[in-house]
Amino acid sequence: MKRILLALGILIGFHSLAFSQALPSSSLWKNQRGSTLEVFFVEPSGSFQGQFINRAAGFTCQGTPFPAVGTIKNTSIAFSVSFVPCASYATWYGLLNGNIMKTPLIILFVPPKGPPLKVHETDVFTRVR
Ligand code: BTN
Repeated sequence: MKRILLALGILIGFHSLAFSQALPSSSLWKNQRGSTLEVFFVEPSGSFQGQFINRAAGFTCQGTPFPAVGTIKNTSIAFSVSFVPCASYATWYGLLNGNIMKTPLIILFVPPKGPPLKVHETDVFTRVR
């Protein structure tokens, strides 16, 4: 019985370690537009919280931190940011490969009139901390 519990403990430990290695808590990621994703805390389940600062030319809501929430399973990642004052919502989804995260993304912009606009782009994040 003790051996089974020990084996289970080791397995759970490795599982948690896998998450923390792919996307560590307190890590900082910068994309090709100069925007940053700071990951505050990654839970053992893979869900994480952080903040995103947009510095991309041609976009609004620049230089202000917005909450980011996401989930990671092995190397597969998805996270979202609601840019409330700018009436837009972005979701990134992709794969982590060491210090590089290539994430296609969707931005949904809700204009004062008419239906929401959907834009598809891609960001590439590099881990800087
Ligand atoms: C807006 O103007 O709609 C609000 C800011 C959106 C910034 C987008 S989110 C995806 C893309 N990657 C960035 O780093 N910034 C833009």
